[in-house]
Amino acid sequence: MQLKSKDLLGMQQLDKEEIELILNTAQGMKQALLIGHKKTTHLQGKSVVTLFYENSTRTRLSFEMAAKYMGAATGNIAVSGSSINKGETLLDTAVTIDHMATDFIIMRHPSSGAPFYIADRVNASVINAGDGMDEHPTQCLLDLFTMKEQLGTLSGLKVAIIGDIAHSRVARSNIWALNKFNSEVRVAGPASMMPVEFEKTGAIVCNDVKEACEGCDVVMGLRLQLERMHSALFPSVNEYARFYGINDEVMACAQPHAIVMHPGPYNHGMEMTSNLRYSDQSFIDEQVTNGVACRMAVLYLLNVRRNSMAADQ
Ligand code: CP
Repeated sequence: MQLKSKDLLGMQQLDKEEIELILNTAQGMKQALLIGHKKTTHLQGKSVVTLFYENSTRTRLSFEMAAKYMGAATGNIAVSGSSINKGETLLDTAVTIDHMATDFIIMRHPSSGAPFYIADRVNASVINAGDGMDEHPTQCLLDLFTMKEQLGTLSGLKVAIIGDIAHSRVARSNIWALNKFNSEVRVAGPASMMPVEFEKTGAIVCNDVKEACEGCDVVMGLRLQLERMHSALFPSVNEYARFYGINDEVMACAQPHAIVMHPGPYNHGMEMTSNLRYSDQSFIDEQVTNGVACRMAVLYLLNVRRNSMAADQ
């Protein structure tokens, strides 16, 4: 079995079997990493460029490490220090990268849909590393991997996603994916951060955090994306933490085995208490580790797809 597209643009575009293929491949990648096997030849002779119009630590670095562990040549473009700052357009930038025989362009952009626009116009495989408020598919894949690793399944789960739902591409990608596995996603957050008619996504919109977490297997906090808020959407940090922060009282509503997740970066004391962040229930550091394995799997499988497309020509 192979991935169907040359690009990875969103969880909406992947079917359940493709998601399972990526997660199973990531399992093998993680095993190899755990025994210190960090030099493979899967991407030897291939090139990977990260093109980031927004800041990133985890996604950009884990893609770069994943590519290097598999033997690819790597390059990085950010807004600062590149010709984007001289006014070069997104399309011209992507086409320029493409003409350097680049095999993979990993892009993050503040506009929803930007990677879809580029994917049709370049030969390289485009991987969406986060587009506006739309999707963050590789974050979702590492989230799914972590859930499956800790809970043994992705089917029939109850997953609560708490916080800034409106701005969250992580929430959207997880909802699209978990729907495919017949798992229930409940969301809760301030009304000012809850899009109208959000239940149309398939998620259950709850009035408060405890209601959302009742009987849940997973409680996922979301970062307050202060950089995307153009006006104050909550009265104060203290008030946000009091009404929407995840704490021991909230976790008492969830299943005893429930795990705590967060995509990072984490605003200390806002989205959840520091005690919980660093507790045995928290798998936030494991999510980071799993991110490298999942991104290795995505690069590996898209490369298989590229090779088979080249062989068919
Ligand atoms: N979770 C996530 O996308 O983190 P970065 O912004 O650090 O890449």
